Amino acid sequence: MQSAYDTLATEGAQLAFGFWRLAVLDRLERQLDAQLPCVSTPPIRLHEAMRYAVLGGGKRLRPLLCQASGVALGADRQVLDTVGAAVEMVHVNSLVYDDLPAMDDDSLRHGRPSVHIQFDEATAILTGSALLMQAFMTLRHAPVSCARQVLLMEELARAAGPDGLCGGQMFDLDSLGTVIDIPALNLMHRMKTGALIRAAVRMGALCAEPVDADLDALDRYAAAVGLAFQIVDDILDATQDSATLGKTAGKDAQDHKPTYVSVFGLEPSRRLAWQLNEQAHAALTCFGARAFYLRELADLIVKRLH
Ligand code: IPE
Ligand code: IPE
Ligand code: MG
Ligand code: MG
Ligand code: MG
Repeated sequence: MQSAYDTLATEGAQLAFGFWRLAVLDRLERQLDAQLPCVSTPPIRLHEAMRYAVLGGGKRLRPLLCQASGVALGADRQVLDTVGAAVEMVHVNSLVYDDLPAMDDDSLRHGRPSVHIQFDEATAILTGSALLMQAFMTLRHAPVSCARQVLLMEELARAAGPDGLCGGQMFDLDSLGTVIDIPALNLMHRMKTGALIRAAVRMGALCAEPVDADLDALDRYAAAVGLAFQIVDDILDATQDSATLGKTAGKDAQDHKPTYVSVFGLEPSRRLAWQLNEQAHAALTCFGARAFYLRELADLIVKRLH
């Protein structure tokens, strides 16, 4: 049974995490605002759409992960703020494209019309590309050595490209209406979602001086968290409503998309997400208390299921 002291300690830890998270989100919002082009300069429509897409909400999980792994390794906060903003821009690029009629054809994102609905398809395509480029420009200005900037850019480019997000999205689209086996499902999830989450974690570490053992442990953590995140996303798509999600619920079943829910069922998918959470925790043992925020973020992902 938990003693009163344990309960207080848990509540104190939750409070500390809550404050940290709010502080990171506040700095991120300001960083993104500063990195995005002004709406008073032409082409105004493009700039408006970029700001609409990026500043319109979202959980900001990837910048939070980037910060948390950087904190675990003692990285500079200002560098982490810049790098986290770059990763978020790539993520938002993926959301803008994901919603396009040629992809998931989704008209709702963050509780508002998707970018191609609010503006138009051409503007959405340009917005996505512009955000991708802006992400790399942001890294080019990160206050680290040129050699470190190149490492960070390489990490992000690999995660966003054909071996990561783009490749995963291709598998996703190819899988619609088909039956795929479990290795193919895992691969699709690892690429379309896991790759950028892994990059966020690794890039946070690369803002410090990680040794190979640190990166190996963080890779194991990120693999577990990345897969858990997409499984939870699949579960929520099947179990929550559009108002709660801020995006169209039930879309995966409607599109006959193979997901963890359609392949394994709801309950086994929930269990799997929790097993992955345990794996994420196990991967962090070597960091001790330094990985506090990484642990809390892993928990936050599965707690969305409650
Ligand atoms: C949605 O990601 C797309 C997936 C990879 C499942 P998030 O759920 O992290 O998106 P936002 O930014 O928080 O809305
Ligand atoms: C998207 O997966 C993965 C991305 C790279 C955007 P989903 O298609 O399930 O994401 P949502 O549910 O629309 O956010
Ligand atoms: Mg999709
Ligand atoms: Mg989608
Ligand atoms: Mg989804």
